[in-house]
Amino acid sequence: MLPADADDELRECRIRVHRAGPLSGEVVVPGAKNSVLKLMAATVLADGVYELTNVPNIADVGIMADLLRAIGLEVTLHPQNLVTIVNRGDLTPVAPYELVAQMRASINLLGPLLTRCGEVRISMPGGDDFGSRPIDMHVAGLEAMGAEFELTADYVAARVAGGGRLHGAEIMFDFPSVGATENVLTAAVLADGVTTIDNAAREPELIDLCELMVSMGATIDGIGTSRLQITGVDRGALHATNHETVPDRIQAATYIAACAVSGGEIDLLNAKVDHMQMVLSRFRDMGLGLGQLPNGIRVTSEGRLRATDIATLPYPGIATDYKPLIITMLSVADGVAIVTENIYPGRFKYVEELQRLGADIRTNGHHAVIRGVERLTGAHVVSHDIRAGAAMVVAGLAAEGETTITGVHHIDRGYDDLVGRLQSVGAGISRAGAG
Ligand code: EPU
Repeated sequence: MLPADADDELRECRIRVHRAGPLSGEVVVPGAKNSVLKLMAATVLADGVYELTNVPNIADVGIMADLLRAIGLEVTLHPQNLVTIVNRGDLTPVAPYELVAQMRASINLLGPLLTRCGEVRISMPGGDDFGSRPIDMHVAGLEAMGAEFELTADYVAARVAGGGRLHGAEIMFDFPSVGATENVLTAAVLADGVTTIDNAAREPELIDLCELMVSMGATIDGIGTSRLQITGVDRGALHATNHETVPDRIQAATYIAACAVSGGEIDLLNAKVDHMQMVLSRFRDMGLGLGQLPNGIRVTSEGRLRATDIATLPYPGIATDYKPLIITMLSVADGVAIVTENIYPGRFKYVEELQRLGADIRTNGHHAVIRGVERLTGAHVVSHDIRAGAAMVVAGLAAEGETTITGVHHIDRGYDDLVGRLQSVGAGISRAGAG
Protein backbone atom coordinates (compact mmCIF):
# COMPACT_ATOMS: atom_id res chain seq x y z
CA MET A 1 0.00 0.00 0.00
CA LEU A 2 1.25 3.49 -0.80
CA PRO A 3 1.76 5.75 2.22
CA ALA A 4 -1.28 7.96 2.77
CA ASP A 5 0.68 11.17 2.25
CA ALA A 6 2.46 10.05 -0.92
CA ASP A 7 1.47 12.10 -3.92
CA ASP A 8 0.85 11.17 -7.53
CA GLU A 9 4.34 12.19 -8.59
CA LEU A 10 5.81 9.63 -6.24
CA ARG A 11 3.58 6.99 -7.78
CA GLU A 12 5.22 7.74 -11.11
CA CYS A 13 8.74 7.32 -9.79
CA ARG A 14 10.68 4.70 -11.77
CA ILE A 15 14.01 2.98 -11.52
CA ARG A 16 15.73 2.29 -14.85
CA VAL A 17 18.29 -0.47 -15.01
CA HIS A 18 20.55 -1.77 -17.73
CA ARG A 19 23.35 -4.25 -17.81
CA ALA A 20 26.77 -2.80 -17.00
CA GLY A 21 29.83 -4.15 -15.40
CA PRO A 22 31.99 -5.57 -14.12
CA LEU A 23 31.20 -3.81 -10.82
CA SER A 24 34.04 -2.55 -8.68
CA GLY A 25 34.47 -0.47 -5.55
CA GLU A 26 33.06 -0.31 -2.04
CA VAL A 27 29.54 -0.21 -0.61
CA VAL A 28 28.91 0.70 3.01
CA VAL A 29 26.10 -1.55 4.27
CA PRO A 30 23.49 0.50 6.19
CA GLY A 31 21.84 -0.39 9.51
CA ALA A 32 19.09 -3.02 9.51
CA LYS A 33 15.47 -2.02 9.01
CA ASN A 34 14.27 -5.05 10.93
CA SER A 35 16.38 -4.06 13.88
CA VAL A 36 16.01 -0.29 14.06
CA LEU A 37 12.20 -0.35 13.97
CA LYS A 38 12.17 -2.62 17.03
CA LEU A 39 14.84 -0.55 18.79
CA MET A 40 12.70 2.54 18.27
CA ALA A 41 9.59 0.75 19.60
CA ALA A 42 11.50 -0.34 22.72
CA THR A 43 12.21 3.28 23.68
CA VAL A 44 8.62 3.37 24.94
CA LEU A 45 9.77 1.24 27.89
CA ALA A 46 11.77 3.83 29.84
CA ASP A 47 11.91 7.62 30.20
CA GLY A 48 14.92 9.61 29.07
CA VAL A 49 16.88 10.59 25.97
CA TYR A 50 17.97 7.88 23.53
CA GLU A 51 20.52 8.16 20.73
CA LEU A 52 20.34 5.51 18.04
CA THR A 53 23.19 5.47 15.51
CA ASN A 54 23.71 3.67 12.18
CA VAL A 55 20.01 4.27 11.49
CA PRO A 56 19.22 3.62 7.82
CA ASN A 57 17.67 6.45 5.82
CA ILE A 58 14.48 4.57 4.84
CA ALA A 59 10.77 5.39 4.74
CA ASP A 60 9.84 2.89 7.47
CA VAL A 61 12.00 4.75 9.99
CA GLY A 62 9.94 7.87 9.20
CA ILE A 63 6.71 5.93 9.75
CA MET A 64 7.93 4.55 13.09
CA ALA A 65 9.02 8.07 14.07
CA ASP A 66 5.49 9.34 13.34
CA LEU A 67 3.99 6.46 15.32
CA LEU A 68 6.16 7.26 18.34
CA ARG A 69 5.23 10.96 18.04
CA ALA A 70 1.54 10.01 18.00
CA ILE A 71 2.12 8.09 21.23
CA GLY A 72 3.83 11.08 22.89
CA LEU A 73 7.57 10.75 22.28
CA GLU A 74 9.78 13.38 20.66
CA VAL A 75 11.68 11.95 17.71
CA THR A 76 14.31 13.78 15.66
CA LEU A 77 15.90 12.31 12.54
CA HIS A 78 19.33 13.91 12.19
CA PRO A 79 21.81 13.72 9.29
CA GLN A 80 24.57 11.13 9.63
CA ASN A 81 22.16 8.30 10.46
CA LEU A 82 21.45 9.51 13.99
CA VAL A 83 18.01 9.46 15.61
CA THR A 84 17.26 10.95 19.01
CA ILE A 85 14.15 9.98 20.93
CA VAL A 86 12.95 11.70 24.09
CA ASN A 87 10.52 9.81 26.29
CA ARG A 88 9.04 12.03 29.03
CA GLY A 89 6.62 9.37 30.23
CA ASP A 90 3.45 11.09 29.04
CA LEU A 91 2.23 8.35 26.69
CA THR A 92 -1.02 7.65 24.86
CA PRO A 93 -0.95 3.91 24.10
CA VAL A 94 -2.87 4.13 20.83
CA ALA A 95 -1.31 3.50 17.40
CA PRO A 96 -3.47 5.17 14.75
CA TYR A 97 -4.70 3.43 11.59
CA GLU A 98 -3.16 5.87 9.05
CA LEU A 99 0.33 4.95 10.23
CA VAL A 100 -0.14 1.30 11.20
CA ALA A 101 -1.67 0.52 7.81
CA GLN A 102 1.64 1.43 6.17
CA MET A 103 3.93 -0.83 8.11
CA ARG A 104 3.84 -4.32 9.54
CA ALA A 105 6.39 -3.51 12.24
CA SER A 106 3.81 -1.28 13.98
CA ILE A 107 2.78 -4.47 15.79
CA ASN A 108 6.10 -4.23 17.63
CA LEU A 109 4.55 -1.51 19.79
CA LEU A 110 2.15 -4.05 21.32
CA GLY A 111 4.51 -5.53 23.92
CA PRO A 112 6.27 -2.30 24.96
CA LEU A 113 3.04 -0.23 25.28
CA LEU A 114 1.11 -2.95 27.10
CA THR A 115 3.81 -3.56 29.68
CA ARG A 116 4.58 0.14 30.12
CA CYS A 117 1.05 1.60 30.14
CA GLY A 118 -1.07 -1.40 31.20
CA GLU A 119 -3.17 -1.04 28.06
CA VAL A 120 -2.76 -0.63 24.31
CA ARG A 121 -4.79 -0.30 21.14
CA ILE A 122 -3.22 -0.85 17.72
CA SER A 123 -4.96 -0.93 14.37
CA MET A 124 -4.44 -4.20 12.50
CA PRO A 125 -1.03 -3.95 10.83
CA GLY A 126 -0.55 -3.58 7.09
CA GLY A 127 2.79 -3.95 5.34
CA ASP A 128 3.91 -6.38 2.69
CA ASP A 129 1.30 -8.55 1.05
CA PHE A 130 2.57 -12.08 0.84
CA GLY A 131 -0.31 -14.01 2.36
CA SER A 132 -1.85 -14.33 5.77
CA ARG A 133 0.25 -12.93 8.62
CA PRO A 134 -1.59 -13.79 11.84
CA ILE A 135 -0.62 -12.60 15.35
CA ASP A 136 -1.99 -15.55 17.32
CA MET A 137 1.39 -16.35 18.90
CA HIS A 138 1.85 -12.72 20.04
CA VAL A 139 -1.59 -12.85 21.65
CA ALA A 140 -1.17 -16.28 23.31
CA GLY A 141 2.23 -15.31 24.74
CA LEU A 142 0.95 -12.06 26.25
CA GLU A 143 -2.22 -13.76 27.54
CA ALA A 144 -0.03 -16.23 29.42
CA MET A 145 1.51 -13.16 31.10
CA GLY A 146 -1.86 -11.83 32.23
CA ALA A 147 -3.09 -9.76 29.28
CA GLU A 148 -6.73 -9.66 28.18
CA PHE A 149 -7.33 -9.08 24.47
CA GLU A 150 -10.09 -7.64 22.34
CA LEU A 151 -9.53 -8.54 18.69
CA THR A 152 -11.63 -7.17 15.88
CA ALA A 153 -11.07 -6.98 12.14
CA ASP A 154 -9.88 -3.37 12.63
CA TYR A 155 -7.76 -3.36 15.74
CA VAL A 156 -6.13 -5.28 18.54
CA ALA A 157 -6.64 -3.93 22.05
CA ALA A 158 -5.18 -5.37 25.23
CA ARG A 159 -4.93 -4.53 28.90
CA VAL A 160 -3.41 -6.09 31.96
CA ALA A 161 -6.14 -8.15 33.64
CA GLY A 162 -6.93 -6.68 37.06
CA GLY A 163 -4.61 -3.70 36.47
CA GLY A 164 -1.00 -3.54 37.68
CA ARG A 165 1.81 -5.38 35.90
CA LEU A 166 2.02 -8.35 33.61
CA HIS A 167 3.51 -11.39 35.33
CA GLY A 168 6.23 -13.84 34.31
CA ALA A 169 5.22 -17.00 32.44
CA GLU A 170 6.68 -20.05 30.71
CA ILE A 171 6.03 -19.69 27.01
CA MET A 172 6.79 -22.20 24.28
CA PHE A 173 6.28 -21.15 20.66
CA ASP A 174 5.19 -23.67 18.00
CA PHE A 175 7.37 -21.75 15.57
CA PRO A 176 10.19 -19.24 16.25
CA SER A 177 8.23 -16.17 15.14
CA VAL A 178 10.39 -13.05 15.07
CA GLY A 179 7.58 -10.64 15.92
CA ALA A 180 6.00 -12.80 18.65
CA THR A 181 9.39 -13.32 20.32
CA GLU A 182 10.00 -9.56 20.23
CA ASN A 183 6.62 -8.66 21.71
CA VAL A 184 6.81 -11.18 24.55
CA LEU A 185 10.43 -10.26 25.24
CA THR A 186 9.81 -6.52 25.46
CA ALA A 187 6.73 -7.07 27.62
CA ALA A 188 8.63 -9.44 29.95
CA VAL A 189 11.32 -6.87 30.66
CA LEU A 190 8.90 -4.89 32.89
CA ALA A 191 6.75 -7.85 34.05
CA ASP A 192 6.62 -9.10 37.62
CA GLY A 193 8.79 -12.24 37.83
CA VAL A 194 10.62 -14.48 35.39
CA THR A 195 9.50 -15.24 31.83
CA THR A 196 11.00 -17.99 29.73
CA ILE A 197 10.54 -18.20 25.97
CA ASP A 198 11.29 -21.58 24.41
CA ASN A 199 11.72 -21.94 20.65
CA ALA A 200 12.47 -18.21 20.56
CA ALA A 201 13.61 -16.59 17.32
CA ARG A 202 17.34 -15.78 17.35
CA GLU A 203 17.91 -13.51 14.37
CA PRO A 204 20.81 -11.03 14.66
CA GLU A 205 18.23 -8.20 14.81
CA LEU A 206 16.60 -9.85 17.82
CA ILE A 207 19.97 -10.06 19.54
CA ASP A 208 20.40 -6.35 18.80
CA LEU A 209 17.08 -5.63 20.55
CA CYS A 210 18.16 -7.71 23.56
CA GLU A 211 21.42 -5.79 23.75
CA LEU A 212 19.62 -2.45 23.66
CA MET A 213 17.35 -3.51 26.52
CA VAL A 214 20.23 -4.93 28.59
CA SER A 215 21.98 -1.58 28.26
CA MET A 216 18.70 0.00 29.49
CA GLY A 217 18.92 -2.14 32.64
CA ALA A 218 16.93 -5.24 31.62
CA THR A 219 17.94 -8.73 32.75
CA ILE A 220 17.92 -11.20 29.85
CA ASP A 221 19.72 -14.55 29.80
CA GLY A 222 20.24 -16.84 26.83
CA ILE A 223 20.62 -14.04 24.28
CA GLY A 224 21.23 -15.55 20.85
CA THR A 225 19.82 -18.96 21.86
CA SER A 226 16.34 -20.39 21.38
CA ARG A 227 15.63 -20.19 25.14
CA LEU A 228 15.40 -16.69 26.52
CA GLN A 229 14.95 -16.06 30.24
CA ILE A 230 13.87 -12.58 31.24
CA THR A 231 13.73 -11.43 34.84
CA GLY A 232 11.35 -8.49 34.99
CA VAL A 233 12.48 -5.28 36.71
CA ASP A 234 10.58 -2.29 38.14
CA ARG A 235 10.04 0.58 35.74
CA GLY A 236 12.43 2.77 37.75
CA ALA A 237 15.26 0.31 37.12
CA LEU A 238 15.15 0.95 33.36
CA HIS A 239 16.74 4.01 31.79
CA ALA A 240 17.38 5.47 28.34
CA THR A 241 20.57 4.56 26.49
CA ASN A 242 22.58 4.97 23.29
CA HIS A 243 22.84 2.15 20.79
CA GLU A 244 24.32 1.41 17.35
CA THR A 245 22.04 -0.48 14.97
CA VAL A 246 23.33 -3.79 13.64
CA PRO A 247 24.20 -3.81 9.87
CA ASP A 248 21.54 -5.06 7.48
CA ARG A 249 22.27 -8.59 6.24
CA ILE A 250 19.50 -8.43 3.62
CA GLN A 251 20.79 -5.20 2.12
CA ALA A 252 24.28 -6.75 2.16
CA ALA A 253 22.97 -9.78 0.25
CA THR A 254 21.38 -7.45 -2.29
CA TYR A 255 24.78 -6.03 -3.26
CA ILE A 256 26.20 -9.56 -3.37
CA ALA A 257 23.40 -10.53 -5.77
CA ALA A 258 24.04 -7.41 -7.90
CA CYS A 259 27.73 -8.31 -8.19
CA ALA A 260 26.85 -11.96 -8.84
CA VAL A 261 24.83 -11.18 -11.97
CA SER A 262 27.04 -8.31 -13.20
CA GLY A 263 30.49 -9.78 -12.55
CA GLY A 264 33.30 -7.89 -10.83
CA GLU A 265 34.55 -7.40 -7.31
CA ILE A 266 33.09 -5.23 -4.54
CA ASP A 267 33.84 -4.77 -0.87
CA LEU A 268 30.83 -4.63 1.44
CA LEU A 269 31.97 -2.58 4.40
CA ASN A 270 30.27 -3.31 7.74
CA ALA A 271 28.69 -6.54 6.41
CA LYS A 272 28.93 -9.23 9.07
CA VAL A 273 30.00 -12.70 7.94
CA ASP A 274 28.80 -14.18 11.25
CA HIS A 275 25.22 -13.09 10.53
CA MET A 276 25.18 -14.57 7.02
CA GLN A 277 27.03 -17.89 7.30
CA MET A 278 24.38 -20.12 5.72
CA VAL A 279 23.50 -17.87 2.81
CA LEU A 280 27.18 -17.15 2.11
CA SER A 281 27.79 -20.89 1.96
CA ARG A 282 25.06 -21.26 -0.70
CA PHE A 283 26.47 -18.29 -2.61
CA ARG A 284 29.85 -20.07 -2.64
CA ASP A 285 28.12 -23.21 -3.97
CA MET A 286 26.81 -20.99 -6.76
CA GLY A 287 30.38 -20.04 -7.65
CA LEU A 288 30.88 -16.68 -5.94
CA GLY A 289 34.12 -15.78 -4.22
CA LEU A 290 33.44 -14.43 -0.72
CA GLY A 291 36.34 -13.36 1.45
CA GLN A 292 36.28 -11.91 4.95
CA LEU A 293 37.72 -8.42 5.34
CA PRO A 294 38.61 -6.88 8.74
CA ASN A 295 35.37 -4.90 8.50
CA GLY A 296 33.25 -6.58 5.86
CA ILE A 297 33.02 -9.03 2.99
CA ARG A 298 34.76 -9.04 -0.43
CA VAL A 299 32.57 -10.44 -3.23
CA THR A 300 34.13 -11.69 -6.45
CA SER A 301 32.04 -12.89 -9.38
CA GLU A 302 33.61 -14.44 -12.48
CA GLY A 303 31.74 -16.44 -15.08
CA ARG A 304 28.25 -17.88 -14.88
CA LEU A 305 26.60 -18.85 -11.60
CA ARG A 306 25.81 -22.52 -10.89
CA ALA A 307 22.32 -23.75 -9.95
CA THR A 308 21.95 -24.77 -6.28
CA ASP A 309 18.87 -25.96 -4.36
CA ILE A 310 17.83 -23.72 -1.46
CA ALA A 311 15.23 -23.83 1.32
CA THR A 312 14.27 -20.92 3.58
CA LEU A 313 14.18 -21.50 7.35
CA PRO A 314 14.23 -19.43 10.54
CA TYR A 315 17.68 -18.16 11.55
CA PRO A 316 20.35 -19.52 11.39
CA GLY A 317 18.73 -20.95 8.23
CA ILE A 318 18.39 -18.96 5.03
CA ALA A 319 16.00 -16.06 5.58
CA THR A 320 12.88 -15.79 3.45
CA ASP A 321 13.89 -12.18 2.76
CA TYR A 322 16.88 -13.38 0.71
CA LYS A 323 14.72 -15.57 -1.47
CA PRO A 324 13.62 -13.12 -4.21
CA LEU A 325 17.31 -12.25 -4.70
CA ILE A 326 18.31 -15.91 -4.79
CA ILE A 327 15.61 -16.84 -7.31
CA THR A 328 16.74 -13.95 -9.49
CA MET A 329 20.34 -15.17 -9.36
CA LEU A 330 19.21 -18.71 -10.20
CA SER A 331 17.22 -17.36 -13.18
CA VAL A 332 20.52 -16.79 -14.99
CA ALA A 333 22.52 -19.66 -13.44
CA ASP A 334 23.73 -22.76 -15.27
CA GLY A 335 21.33 -25.63 -14.48
CA VAL A 336 18.05 -26.32 -12.70
CA ALA A 337 17.39 -25.49 -9.04
CA ILE A 338 14.53 -26.00 -6.60
CA VAL A 339 13.78 -23.31 -4.03
CA THR A 340 11.50 -24.19 -1.12
CA GLU A 341 9.75 -21.50 0.95
CA ASN A 342 9.09 -22.61 4.53
CA ILE A 343 8.17 -19.28 6.16
CA TYR A 344 5.55 -17.61 3.91
CA PRO A 345 4.07 -20.19 1.50
CA GLY A 346 2.53 -17.44 -0.68
CA ARG A 347 5.69 -15.40 -1.12
CA PHE A 348 6.18 -15.92 -4.88
CA LYS A 349 4.34 -12.92 -6.32
CA TYR A 350 7.47 -11.46 -7.92
CA VAL A 351 7.96 -14.65 -9.97
CA GLU A 352 5.44 -13.36 -12.52
CA GLU A 353 7.55 -10.24 -12.92
CA LEU A 354 10.71 -12.30 -13.43
CA GLN A 355 8.86 -14.32 -16.05
CA ARG A 356 8.12 -11.08 -17.88
CA LEU A 357 11.88 -10.64 -18.14
CA GLY A 358 12.20 -14.13 -19.64
CA ALA A 359 12.99 -16.19 -16.54
CA ASP A 360 11.98 -19.87 -16.72
CA ILE A 361 10.35 -20.47 -13.32
CA ARG A 362 7.50 -22.73 -12.34
CA THR A 363 5.92 -22.65 -8.90
CA ASN A 364 3.99 -25.42 -7.21
CA GLY A 365 2.77 -24.83 -3.66
CA HIS A 366 5.76 -23.63 -1.68
CA HIS A 367 8.32 -24.79 -4.27
CA ALA A 368 9.80 -23.02 -7.28
CA VAL A 369 11.71 -24.78 -10.03
CA ILE A 370 14.11 -22.45 -11.82
CA ARG A 371 15.79 -23.39 -15.11
CA GLY A 372 18.55 -20.90 -15.65
CA VAL A 373 18.63 -18.99 -18.95
CA GLU A 374 21.72 -17.29 -20.38
CA ARG A 375 20.24 -13.81 -20.16
CA LEU A 376 17.04 -12.06 -19.13
CA THR A 377 15.47 -9.43 -21.39
CA GLY A 378 14.59 -5.93 -20.18
CA ALA A 379 10.90 -5.03 -19.75
CA HIS A 380 8.63 -3.03 -17.46
CA VAL A 381 8.11 -4.73 -14.08
CA VAL A 382 6.43 -3.83 -10.81
CA SER A 383 7.87 -4.02 -7.32
CA HIS A 384 5.18 -5.59 -5.09
CA ASP A 385 7.10 -5.49 -1.81
CA ILE A 386 10.46 -4.40 -0.43
CA ARG A 387 12.49 -7.50 -1.18
CA ALA A 388 10.73 -8.22 -4.48
CA GLY A 389 11.61 -4.67 -5.55
CA ALA A 390 15.29 -5.21 -4.82
CA ALA A 391 15.13 -8.47 -6.78
CA MET A 392 13.70 -6.58 -9.78
CA VAL A 393 16.70 -4.26 -9.67
CA VAL A 394 19.07 -7.25 -9.65
CA ALA A 395 17.08 -8.85 -12.49
CA GLY A 396 17.45 -5.64 -14.49
CA LEU A 397 21.22 -5.87 -14.04
CA ALA A 398 21.05 -9.41 -15.48
CA ALA A 399 18.95 -8.39 -18.51
CA GLU A 400 19.76 -7.22 -22.02
CA GLY A 401 18.10 -3.88 -22.76
CA GLU A 402 16.37 -1.56 -20.33
CA THR A 403 14.25 -2.65 -17.38
CA THR A 404 11.98 -0.11 -15.75
CA ILE A 405 10.61 -0.70 -12.28
CA THR A 406 7.59 0.97 -10.73
CA GLY A 407 6.29 0.53 -7.19
CA VAL A 408 9.54 2.16 -6.08
CA HIS A 409 8.00 3.32 -2.79
CA HIS A 410 8.23 -0.31 -1.61
CA ILE A 411 11.99 -0.31 -2.19
CA ASP A 412 12.30 3.02 -0.35
CA ARG A 413 10.65 1.49 2.71
CA GLY A 414 13.65 -0.73 3.36
CA TYR A 415 16.60 0.31 1.20
CA ASP A 416 18.87 3.23 1.99
CA ASP A 417 19.82 4.74 -1.39
CA LEU A 418 19.96 1.47 -3.32
CA VAL A 419 20.30 3.37 -6.60
CA GLY A 420 23.15 5.63 -5.42
CA ARG A 421 25.04 2.76 -3.85
CA LEU A 422 24.80 0.66 -7.01
CA GLN A 423 25.79 3.62 -9.21
CA SER A 424 28.89 4.10 -7.07
CA VAL A 425 30.17 0.63 -8.03
CA GLY A 426 29.44 1.09 -11.74
CA ALA A 427 25.96 -0.42 -12.14
CA GLY A 428 23.75 0.90 -14.92
CA ILE A 429 20.92 2.30 -12.82
CA SER A 430 19.11 5.60 -12.44
CA ARG A 431 15.99 6.99 -10.88
CA ALA A 432 13.44 9.08 -12.72
CA GLY A 433 10.47 11.04 -11.42
CA ALA A 434 9.89 12.48 -8.00
CA GLY A 435 10.46 10.67 -4.71
N1 EPU B 1 3.12 -16.50 12.34
C1 EPU B 1 1.95 -17.03 12.83
N2 EPU B 1 1.42 -16.50 13.97
C2 EPU B 1 2.02 -15.47 14.63
C3 EPU B 1 3.20 -14.92 14.11
C4 EPU B 1 3.74 -15.45 12.96
O1 EPU B 1 1.41 -17.97 12.28
O2 EPU B 1 1.47 -15.05 15.66
C5 EPU B 1 3.69 -17.06 11.11
C6 EPU B 1 3.66 -16.05 9.97
O3 EPU B 1 2.43 -16.04 9.32
C7 EPU B 1 4.77 -16.55 9.09
C8 EPU B 1 5.79 -17.07 10.10
O4 EPU B 1 5.07 -17.32 11.31
O5 EPU B 1 4.32 -17.61 8.29
C9 EPU B 1 6.96 -16.14 10.37
O6 EPU B 1 6.50 -14.90 10.86
P1 EPU B 1 7.37 -13.99 11.83
O7 EPU B 1 6.52 -13.61 12.98
O8 EPU B 1 8.69 -14.67 12.12
O9 EPU B 1 7.66 -12.74 10.91
P2 EPU B 1 7.41 -11.20 11.23
O10 EPU B 1 7.94 -10.86 12.57
O11 EPU B 1 6.03 -10.82 10.89
C10 EPU B 1 9.77 -10.49 10.32
C11 EPU B 1 10.29 -9.51 9.31
C12 EPU B 1 10.00 -9.98 7.90
C13 EPU B 1 10.63 -11.35 7.72
C14 EPU B 1 10.11 -12.31 8.80
C15 EPU B 1 10.74 -13.68 8.75
C16 EPU B 1 10.09 -7.40 10.43
C17 EPU B 1 9.41 -6.09 10.52
N3 EPU B 1 9.64 -8.22 9.51
O12 EPU B 1 8.35 -10.53 10.13
O13 EPU B 1 10.68 -9.06 7.05
O14 EPU B 1 10.30 -11.83 6.44
O15 EPU B 1 10.37 -11.76 10.11
O16 EPU B 1 12.12 -13.59 8.89
O17 EPU B 1 11.03 -7.68 11.17
C18 EPU B 1 10.94 -7.57 5.23
O18 EPU B 1 11.81 -7.00 5.88
O19 EPU B 1 10.73 -7.31 4.01
C19 EPU B 1 10.11 -8.57 5.89
C20 EPU B 1 8.96 -8.99 5.40
